[in-house]
Amino acid sequence: MPEFQHSPGMRDILPPESGRWRRFQAVFAEVAGAAGYGEIMPPLMEDIGVFQRVGEHTDVVTKEMYDFIDKGERHVALRPEQTASVCRAFAQHRPITPWKVFYAGPNFRYEKPQRGRYRQFDQVGIEVLGADDPYLDVEVIVLAWEFYLRLGLQQVTLLLNSLGEPQDRANYTAALKDYFEQHLDALSPESRVTLTKNPLRVLDSKRPADAAVLAGAPRIASFYSAEAAAHFEAVQQGLTDLGIPFTLDTSLVRGLDYYRRTTFEFQGGTLDSAQNALGGGGRYDGLVESLGGPPTHGIGFALGLDRTLLACDDEGVFAAPPAAVNVFVVDTTGGLEALRITAELRAAGISADRAYENRSMKSQMKGADRSGAPIAIIVGSNEIEAGVVTLRPLRGADVQRPVARGALVTEVIQALEQAAKEATA
Ligand code: HAM
Repeated sequence: MPEFQHSPGMRDILPPESGRWRRFQAVFAEVAGAAGYGEIMPPLMEDIGVFQRVGEHTDVVTKEMYDFIDKGERHVALRPEQTASVCRAFAQHRPITPWKVFYAGPNFRYEKPQRGRYRQFDQVGIEVLGADDPYLDVEVIVLAWEFYLRLGLQQVTLLLNSLGEPQDRANYTAALKDYFEQHLDALSPESRVTLTKNPLRVLDSKRPADAAVLAGAPRIASFYSAEAAAHFEAVQQGLTDLGIPFTLDTSLVRGLDYYRRTTFEFQGGTLDSAQNALGGGGRYDGLVESLGGPPTHGIGFALGLDRTLLACDDEGVFAAPPAAVNVFVVDTTGGLEALRITAELRAAGISADRAYENRSMKSQMKGADRSGAPIAIIVGSNEIEAGVVTLRPLRGADVQRPVARGALVTEVIQALEQAAKEATA
C-alpha cells in the first residue's frame, strides 16, 4: 500500500470514466443552453454565512460543512451546494431578470461515504431568478426530464409536491408538530429526535415503525392558501399538457430549508432507496432576500452526477466514450520520425499518439492496438530509405500500403474516412 490514498468519500476519476463525466456535463450544457441558460461558475468556497442560509436546522449545515478559518481570519466553507452561491452572486451583481443560469462542478458534504454518497460529489443544475410564472416551474422540471432522456435513462420517476406559501408551510409545520407530539409513543426514537429539530423531516422517515403514524398525519394540501393552490394546479396542468408523468408525493419535503411552493425530486428505479434521489429542486422565493438582495423569486434544481451515472450503469446506457485517437505512430528508427509525424498530424487536426523509448516493433504494435486507433503509421529503416511510411488499417479487411511521406496527411484523412464508412456499414 502506498503511504497516501485519497481521503474517504473522495475519488480519483480516471480515464476513460473522466471522459464520461465531461460528456455528461457537455450534454447538460447543450440542453440548458438550448433553453437560454448561460453558465455561472461560482467559487468553491464562500463565507460560511452564505451556506448557513440554506437551513439552520439541516444536516447539511449543522453536521456536514467543511468549514475553517482562513489565514485572513475569515470563517469560510467549501460549498455543500450551489443554489446559495448563485443567490449570493445575484444579490451582489444584480443582473437583469429573469436570470437563467446553469452550473456544473463539485460540492462537499461530510457524510458517511457509501455507494452513491460521497464527501466530494458533482452536480449539474440550473437556477432562474426573478420570475414567478408557474409555467417556469414546468420548464425547469421538463429540462431535467429532457436531460435524463438524452442520457437514455428510462427508469426515472418524478415526484412532485408543493410546500405552500411560507405561512402555509408554517401553519402545516405547527399542525404536524402537534400531531406527532400526540403520537410520540408510536414514533421511532430517531423520529422523536427529528421532531425536536424539524417536524417536516419526520415525513421523510422510511422506518417501518413510523409507517402507521405517518399514514394518519395531516396533509399539506389542506393548508394551501388560494394562491399556492392555484400555482400548484397550473404546474400540474403544464406537466400534463407536455406529457410528463409525475407522482404527487405530499411527504416530499427535501433536505434543505429554503423551499417554498413547488418541490420535486427525480428518483432512479435501480438504486437503493437511501441513494435513489438522482436530483431535486424547487422554488426558494426568499433566499436572495436572506442574502441581502431584493425580494426575488427563485427556482431551480441540481442533479447528482455520481448517482445519475450509477443509474446509467444499472440501465446499461450512456457508456464511457471509447478513448481512441485517430492514428498511432510506430517508429523503429529511434523516435524522431514519430515525433515529427505526430506533430504534423496533430497540427492538421488529426489526433495521434505514439510509443516511446524506441521499443520493439511488437511492443509498439501492442500499444497501437490498445490506443483504439483505426490506423497505424509505421516507420522503419526501409520506409525512411524509400521516402514513404506504411499505412496499416487496424480494423476491417484493408491491407497495409506504402504512402509517400509528403502525402501523409491527405492519405490519412482518406483512410480515416474509409475506416469510418466500414465501421458504420
Ligand atoms: P440536494 O437534494 O441536496 O439539492 O442535492 C441534489 C442532488 O445531489 C441529490 O439528489 C443527489 O443526487 C446529489 N447529492 C447530494 N448529496 C450527495 C452526496 N453526498 N453524494 C452524492 N450525490 C449527492 C441541492 O443541492 C439543491 N441545491 C438543489 C436545488 C437547486 N434546489 C433549487 N435549486
